[in-house]
Amino acid sequence: MTERKDLIVGNWKMNSTHLEAIQMVQKLFYRLVATDYDRVEVVVGPPFTSLRSIQTVIESDSMPIGLAAQNVYWEAEGAFTGEVSPPMLAELRVGHIIVGHSERRAYFGETDETVNKRVKATIAHEMKPIVCVGETLDQREADQTAEVLVTQVKGGLNGVPPEDVAESAIAYEPVWAIGTGRHADADTAGVGCGLIRSTVAESHGDEAAGSVRILYGGSVSPGNIKDFMAKRDIDGALVGGASLDPDTFAAVVRYWE
Ligand code: 13P
Repeated sequence: MTERKDLIVGNWKMNSTHLEAIQMVQKLFYRLVATDYDRVEVVVGPPFTSLRSIQTVIESDSMPIGLAAQNVYWEAEGAFTGEVSPPMLAELRVGHIIVGHSERRAYFGETDETVNKRVKATIAHEMKPIVCVGETLDQREADQTAEVLVTQVKGGLNGVPPEDVAESAIAYEPVWAIGTGRHADADTAGVGCGLIRSTVAESHGDEAAGSVRILYGGSVSPGNIKDFMAKRDIDGALVGGASLDPDTFAAVVRYWE
């Protein structure tokens, strides 16, 4: 098993113009001065329209901050109006792609099958997927959480080689905890992430399961991040609302202080 470095990802969702995004990443960089980047990998996921601007800012100031896209199409090019392809993102030095977020599943028809295609396309272009899984409130109340997580993990990673799974991340985001201020308690999150890791062990082997980074997402804040990070199977966080304010996001990143 390899040492799993903390991974904290800001999912900005559909927020910020490119000018606002530049300011956000600059402020974040200053708030993170003296951060031990050997301990934590920091990634921001702005809208597509800001990726190029942020890439330029990150590279011109040599910021040790990674770039994520919030979605990707699986074909490399062609007549797919409105879509964005893996090579377009790779060329912007996007390192991670958030795939199968519950908002995409709920509002844009994403299924485990399309998630799987996006995961494979991401890996084929040498970027890393952050595969999002999680149960709705109805599913939790009907005792279907375990079944939903296992199905989504296996479906999303179906046919992906173990060595690529090892380099990927999976985000456990209970849908009822997203944007509600009602985060899962750390024990519940830890159990969910543990189940995800054992599912990966079953489908892709112990080595992949030992290396894949599993993140918790859903109303993460500076006040609760420490409890999540204390759990054995939680290696980081996928942060929505709290990633939009650089001070708040920096406090999440430096959770141990
Ligand atoms: P919030 O942190 O706003 O609950 O959003 C979580 C999320 O969906 C991150 O992808």
